[in-house]
Amino acid sequence: MNVAILGYGVVGSGVAKVLKENAKTITEKTGYGFKVTRILDKREFPLSEYRAIITNNFDDIANDSSIDVVVETMGGVEPAYSFVKTCLEKGKHVVSSNKELVAVKGAELLKIAESKNVNFFFEASVGGGIPVIRPISRCLAGNNIRSVAGILNGTTNYILTKMITEGVSFEEALSEAQKLGYAEKDPTADVDGYDAMRKICILASLCFGVHLYPDNVYCEGIRRITLADVAYAEKFGSVIKLVARAEKLDNGEVFAMVSPCLVKKTNMLAGVKDVYNACLVNGDMTGDVLMYGKGAGSEATASAVVGDIIDCADNSKERKFFGWQDTKQDILSDYSLKETSLYVRCLVMNKPEACRRLKAIFGNVVFLWRKNQPENEIAFITPVMKEKQLRKVLSTTGVNVITTIRVLA
Ligand code: HSE
Repeated sequence: MNVAILGYGVVGSGVAKVLKENAKTITEKTGYGFKVTRILDKREFPLSEYRAIITNNFDDIANDSSIDVVVETMGGVEPAYSFVKTCLEKGKHVVSSNKELVAVKGAELLKIAESKNVNFFFEASVGGGIPVIRPISRCLAGNNIRSVAGILNGTTNYILTKMITEGVSFEEALSEAQKLGYAEKDPTADVDGYDAMRKICILASLCFGVHLYPDNVYCEGIRRITLADVAYAEKFGSVIKLVARAEKLDNGEVFAMVSPCLVKKTNMLAGVKDVYNACLVNGDMTGDVLMYGKGAGSEATASAVVGDIIDCADNSKERKFFGWQDTKQDILSDYSLKETSLYVRCLVMNKPEACRRLKAIFGNVVFLWRKNQPENEIAFITPVMKEKQLRKVLSTTGVNVITTIRVLA
């Protein structure tokens, strides 16, 4: 089969590499042979072995009827969306690693693919090299999925791990993640949680069957996490992780959120370190299922793309069904009505007095301490309440709140 690649960056070049280096293995395992015949990129690669097939003209791919599968690894919504749409309309299978595109346009592109009887696959859009999309949409299809939660961004997990285990600064850890090819072109998408938000929207859409658009999902990143918070979390037997989660509520609404959380060390997600990702799905028949592996990086992500290319070959004459419907209906619940407890770090004038007051107001409060704790600083864990109510009560305590972090139940 002939394959074209749109975007010869970290993932696109990884796909060419995997198809070439593991060609023999792939053919032995699947019976198929794949050849990259065209690559689209606006940059020039004079030293690349692929220089003769690199073009900056999309029409060279769109109008080439010998191309069976188009791999989109450009990132961003445009021009990726227009290119993918054109390829599907021209009857080509498309495989994408682009979470932004899938999160925003997934339902629409699946519909176009359906009308043209071709496939639109996107295993690499979530969890890098970890198989998550196919297991959720096929292997777990016998379940009503109740919730999905995960560590879905390799860059932030790498940064937090470095902060927790080596005490390095946020900036230094980010720069290392960028060097290793984990971060997005603009790492704001990683550190402010947007990348994880897009991924949880894709997972929730697959798990619950209805497109969950990222626009209104509450999203908070890790920029304000400090080594002081890391130290207090440790005293609570927890680590700080950027957790993306979604849950189907009894009233049909979906709760979804991305935020840093204190995760107890006994929780399976706490042990997920460095660039690794994990996705924890809870089905009514299976209970918890954990999928774990490298969540970013050229080769791991390319491996997932190649899996999709093989699936296109398996289903070259037909379209595989995805139960993912578009909806204009707002199915997102009000996150502030969700019950949670909070870690709070604050400044106070009089510590004993403030502690007495917090106990009197909240009842059960767990105070935390750390080495070199400033005299005017307090950190504590609140009891569980609806978040809206909790924040309201907190505002009456008279403490000067520096930061709050949700505690994962
Ligand atoms: N920047 C992303 C991450 C790449 O760090 O997880 C994989 O989607």
